[in-house]
Amino acid sequence: MLTSIAQAAYVVAAVLFVLSLAGLARQETARRGNVLGMVGMGLALGATVILAADTSERPVLVTMLLVALVLAIGASVGTWRARTVEMTQMPELIAILHSFVGLAAVLVGFNSYLTSEPSIVHDVEVFLGVLIGAVTFTGSIVAYLKLAAKIRSAPLVLPARNVLNLVAIMVSLGLGVWFVLGGGIVPLLVMTAIALALGWHLVAAIGGGDMPVVVSMLNSYSGWAAAAAGLMLANDLLIITGALVGSSGAILSYIMCRAMNRSFVSVILGGFGTEGGTVTAGDQQGEHRETFAADVAEQLAAARSVVIVPGYGMAVAKAQYPVAELVARLRGLGVEVRFGVHPVAGRLPGHMNVLLAEAKVPYDIVLEMDEINDDLPETDIVLVIGANDVVNPAALDDPTSPIAGMPVLEVWHARQVVVFKRSMATGYAGVQNPLFFRENTAMLFGDAKEQTEAILAALRAHAELA
Ligand code: TAP
Repeated sequence: MLTSIAQAAYVVAAVLFVLSLAGLARQETARRGNVLGMVGMGLALGATVILAADTSERPVLVTMLLVALVLAIGASVGTWRARTVEMTQMPELIAILHSFVGLAAVLVGFNSYLTSEPSIVHDVEVFLGVLIGAVTFTGSIVAYLKLAAKIRSAPLVLPARNVLNLVAIMVSLGLGVWFVLGGGIVPLLVMTAIALALGWHLVAAIGGGDMPVVVSMLNSYSGWAAAAAGLMLANDLLIITGALVGSSGAILSYIMCRAMNRSFVSVILGGFGTEGGTVTAGDQQGEHRETFAADVAEQLAAARSVVIVPGYGMAVAKAQYPVAELVARLRGLGVEVRFGVHPVAGRLPGHMNVLLAEAKVPYDIVLEMDEINDDLPETDIVLVIGANDVVNPAALDDPTSPIAGMPVLEVWHARQVVVFKRSMATGYAGVQNPLFFRENTAMLFGDAKEQTEAILAALRAHAELA
């Protein structure tokens, strides 16, 4: 009876997860999507506890106590991290969470191998689950280290790296055949070691500017690892949830690849972001011109159309609130203000949209790169607030650049460009930006939040005088 109730709860949870994903697809419905996902997860957890108690050979009380203990530990760590994590650290957090899913799949695989009756289907599930889990585990750790700037984001280029990857995959396949034919734990252990090394190498070989695709690709891998764990545990909901995460992550990776003009296949095989010259750290490319908040305020007040291009620096500075205030003030003055958001601006998919929504910027003035690029030649001023790689003309002009081929916001076509940043340092991809040395570009040095507040103060003073 209890098992039937739990299975029914699983079906409801699965439907809620699908509805949650549908809600997350649009900003207006994202909040509802999150709530549906949370309710679904609560239901799934409750049903799993009931199932565990109903099917376990242990006394119900012992099972309940064990589950309560691990839930309490997990929930405390999760609540503490969710409350303390900065918005700028979210991508690292997501990467490390993916690594947990990978590790869980490896542990479930070994447990399942040691405790279940061998059969060909079961052995294939175990082998694939451990393989995907191990690749996801170490790949996500490298992604975490790169995103947290604990190791260099530059690609690791080993000689014959593609051959190395291919050999690792072929040897793993051979070990898989040996394992399924009754080879015992040895082929499983050897494959695990190879898969751990492969995951590490696949992500280490990817260059900094291409990390967005890696994050969504690892998201997809973690989903497939969870689905494999679901197969081994014969847990339908885990299979469905894993497949949802795996396929939505794959679709997101595909969208990211299109946005960055990269080939999907080369991403899956971990072989991109390495071609195309060396990383030309901060070398100067001419003279730059400096401007100041009061001058920018004056230009803005006289402008008819303004486009704001936010980037990672806006997140670091937490400048979204004064930026939203600036937008409201300019719109009050009759200036047309819109945002141009690059698909990989910031450090996680939709990063800028989340920040702007948080600051209550109206959705209808937040446009995507493709929607705004054609309007830039008619724009009086573009404010580039903490963005760098996503407005770098070298992506289009310099075929040897590591970001060559990536579509960018072509802000240099506007009449005036003001770049908010603290120094002449490079962006995430480590390449200098020729935009900073163009005639119609002026640099507004300093923290983006402080400079935006200074512009607001100047506009207020201007209004009081008028
Ligand atoms: P970036 O190229 O990283 O540039 C950010 C700029 O913000 C830096 O040049 C920095 O210059 C400036 N900055 C930092 N703190 C600031 C502050 N407090 N005030 C003012 N400026 C500040 O950012 P982007 O243009 O958004 O491009 C994103 C990059 O990250 C791309 O290369 C993308 O591929 C990569 N990436 C994206 C993702 C996703 S999914 N979106 C994931 C991983 C990696 P200063 O230090 O001189 O201030």
